[in-house]
Amino acid sequence: QVALANELPGSEVIVVSNREPYIHNRKDDGTIQVQRPASGLVSALEPVTRACGGTWIAHGSGSADRDSVDADDRVGVPPAKPTYTLRRLWLTDEEQDGYYYGFANEGLWPLCHIAFVRPIFRESDWRFYRSVNEKFAEAVVAEAKRPDPIVLIQDYHLALAPRMIRDRLPNATIITFWHIPWPNSETFGICPWKEEIIDGLLGSSILGFHTQFHCNNFIETVDRFMESRIDRESDSISLAGHETFVRPYPISIDWPPAALEGQAPVPETRTTVRERLGLSPDIKLGVGIERFDYTKGILDRMRGVDAFLTEYPDWKGRFCFAQVAAPTRAKLASYRNLQAEAEALADEINARHGADGWEPIKLLARHHEPDEVFELFRAADLCIVSSLHDGMNLVAKEFVASRDDEQGVLVLSAFAGASRELSEALIVNPYDAYAMGQVIHRALAMDSGEQRERMKVMREQVEAKNVYRWAGQMLLDAARLRKKERIMRLI
Ligand code: F6P
Repeated sequence: QVALANELPGSEVIVVSNREPYIHNRKDDGTIQVQRPASGLVSALEPVTRACGGTWIAHGSGSADRDSVDADDRVGVPPAKPTYTLRRLWLTDEEQDGYYYGFANEGLWPLCHIAFVRPIFRESDWRFYRSVNEKFAEAVVAEAKRPDPIVLIQDYHLALAPRMIRDRLPNATIITFWHIPWPNSETFGICPWKEEIIDGLLGSSILGFHTQFHCNNFIETVDRFMESRIDRESDSISLAGHETFVRPYPISIDWPPAALEGQAPVPETRTTVRERLGLSPDIKLGVGIERFDYTKGILDRMRGVDAFLTEYPDWKGRFCFAQVAAPTRAKLASYRNLQAEAEALADEINARHGADGWEPIKLLARHHEPDEVFELFRAADLCIVSSLHDGMNLVAKEFVASRDDEQGVLVLSAFAGASRELSEALIVNPYDAYAMGQVIHRALAMDSGEQRERMKVMREQVEAKNVYRWAGQMLLDAARLRKKERIMRLI
């Protein structure tokens, strides 16, 4: 807010993403329930947009969304005390299938994550991806009250929009943030429309990734496939007279997190959560909280629990692992199959080790609101984040933020961007079930003093590098760029 007020006086901010920050679902009794989607993008961007104000353009995804907004599709949010405008854009089922499920989630998602799920590229999906990106670009132009707004474009759903907006609003400052990994150039070369995707992104003024590693991968990809000028000193790329800066901005969460408000003290939460899960009061609890996505390594962490109990059978009856998995993208077979596989694997492991009413794995396959998620974090002795590949992973940071008692152990995949920042976690290779079993054992054996030391450092890190800093840094870079461009226009 301070950065905006001082550095960008009178600026107009427009956020653009596929996912909307609030979903309106109609319940069976006809009433409307407002839900917060399970999305790292939303958790990070919502508090920032609240603080900055402005307009957020997103796809209206809930069944009751259409009825819950006024005639011109705008609604003030957050619902209780509006500070910004949510402008919803409606897509047909056909558009949603081609653009979101097809090109974005069967093509780009597996391509960029390299989780050994084959990407699928269809010409028909690509056509919808292009036309839906046009729709978003047009909505930005329609919403812009000035010729030079600051447009914050989010994620792989909207790779073509930066160029489309640049063509219509040449003086806009366009900051695009890519929330998922960018793979090496050889892998990205698989995409039949790689040049178009890169060209679209290079309509941005600034292109952000979570880590320097992903910036480097992007620059190498451009070098390999495009006729452009790359300045390695400043990490900028010039294409057809327009310059784009490529920068790392590690995303984070709000601090203190809103979901911490109203939480009961940890000892009380430990008891109530164990009661709710039907566990004995002194059982050690591990948690994993995810969307049901094959990049998250949900099966792998279950195999880790299996390996742990095989190696250390004296823990049988004394440890339980609760996996929350929110159903997601269920229209796609790869996601449905994962849920079925996870259920079968949990049954198999429970049958192998379970006895006398005790089962080692509890699979809770439903959406949990942020305060329920924080409750589970606070009741847990350890949290496992075992992504096979992840841009950042905010679950890891949320777990740390939830533990104001400075207890609990984070087991974190070496392949999540978060592992570069949270090095006091127990870092693990999720592909190695035996190693994961050993790490679970190490976590359960860790004394309270060591837990405190590690947790303290991680909490300081997340507090200092919170999401306001993430957004603030991008906006400060945007302000510098705007000043530079103004001066250049005077010369
Ligand atoms: O990681 C990229 C991302 O856009 C995150 O914001 C979020 O965790 C997830 O994908 C959301 O997916 P969807 O919007 O498809 O539910």
